[in-house]
Amino acid sequence: MDRGRLTSLLARERDSQVRRNPRSAAAYAQADHLFGRVPMTWMNKQAAGFPLYLESARGSHVVDLDGHEYVDLCLGDSGAMAGHSPAPVTEAVMRRLATLGGATAMMPTEDAEWVGAELTRRFGLPRWSFSLTATDANRWAIRLARAVTGRPKILVNSYCYHGSVDESLIVVGDDGEGVSRPGNVGAPCEVTLTSRVAEFNDVDGLERQLAHGDVAAVLMEPALTNVGIVLPEPGYLDAVRRLTRRHGTLLINDETHTLSAGPGGCTGAWGLAPDVVTIGKAIGGGVAVGAYGLSAELAAAILDRDDLDLVDMGGVGGTLAGNALSVAAARATLEHVLTDSAFAQMTALATRFTDAVTKVIEAHDLPWSISQLGARAEYRFVRPAPRDGTSSARAADAELEDYLHLYLANRGVLLTPFHNMALMSPATSAADVDRHSEVFAAAVAELLA
Ligand SMILES: Cc1ncc(COP(=O)(O)O)c(C=O)c1O
Repeated sequence: MDRGRLTSLLARERDSQVRRNPRSAAAYAQADHLFGRVPMTWMNKQAAGFPLYLESARGSHVVDLDGHEYVDLCLGDSGAMAGHSPAPVTEAVMRRLATLGGATAMMPTEDAEWVGAELTRRFGLPRWSFSLTATDANRWAIRLARAVTGRPKILVNSYCYHGSVDESLIVVGDDGEGVSRPGNVGAPCEVTLTSRVAEFNDVDGLERQLAHGDVAAVLMEPALTNVGIVLPEPGYLDAVRRLTRRHGTLLINDETHTLSAGPGGCTGAWGLAPDVVTIGKAIGGGVAVGAYGLSAELAAAILDRDDLDLVDMGGVGGTLAGNALSVAAARATLEHVLTDSAFAQMTALATRFTDAVTKVIEAHDLPWSISQLGARAEYRFVRPAPRDGTSSARAADAELEDYLHLYLANRGVLLTPFHNMALMSPATSAADVDRHSEVFAAAVAELLA
């Protein structure tokens, strides 16, 4: 690839985005009262110097403040996997908020038990508790794991992402041991005091770390999804389960993104048997909700402990967690939108997406790859597809990524800012996928011309 050509095409696409979006640019320039000019600092992850502002969204499409409509393949990085404002969720939220009243009241509603039962059907774990984010679900699962095992450390995979969880900000260093992940903001202590790390797909590395006997839980995605999609090799997840059992370590599957694999995420699709599942984002249909599910044995072991304060200020809890509005939204999402049949359709569309991208990669013999996990697919600038987080992180190419993101956005297609990821919702159509295929092919052709 001609890097000079890439640089000049990127500059052209940046100019085009600036010219197309004066209202977004002005809103950003005027946001003097926001830290970093954005509601949350990660919104500064964009290629043109300002974020596109949201005006409205419905189904698989969003409209920005300047009136441009996009096929939304980002879908709130899974938060809108159900599509934007699906009717059953809107109705459930309106019923709770307007008709019945009481978004949050420090009282349970019957919807929570319905959602718990449905999550049990999907993931197999029988006892559920709610949070408002997947980060908090992970934080609380980790605390429970430490409490019940009496061990201090959590093991994660290098270049994982589980939200802003202190214990997860560790990567494998050059000597094969853990080091703080670059950029770790305000770490409460040296991360190696709380954490161990192994590469995804590295059974020997995992065994070496577990052999220390101090790991309370392995917190992992069954497929990495935050550094491209890194799929498990045959036998790897079985080995993880075998080794965690052998070393008395609990296994937490974070299914926040890997829910894309099917109605019960990878756990359901691949018949996995974790001790805990954590989840968030998608299951609220756009409304904040997270959850963690425990095995019967683990739930009983925790509840049997009268030294743990699970009720008051013992470190597990959130005032709005499990609120009436968020569980009403989760019920509507799971009952009517992200249904078993919806997943079949979403997965078929992700396959259509993957096939079209593969054709372009092959036609130009590009050293790129694409991986699919059910309703989600992502291209990566390396071939073959990476087998662990560190090699996938090394394959990042910020300039190329920015070019593709801007080229697509300027022609009406949104990818996730942090990924080259496309996610299908129940509202996504074949025409939406084909729009991406067409623009992606044009972007590559121009780059290589
Ligand atoms: C696997 C995984 N777990 C947890 C989280 C954290 O989710 P939230 O930011 O909603 O807390 C994310 C966010 O991307 C994620 O990808």
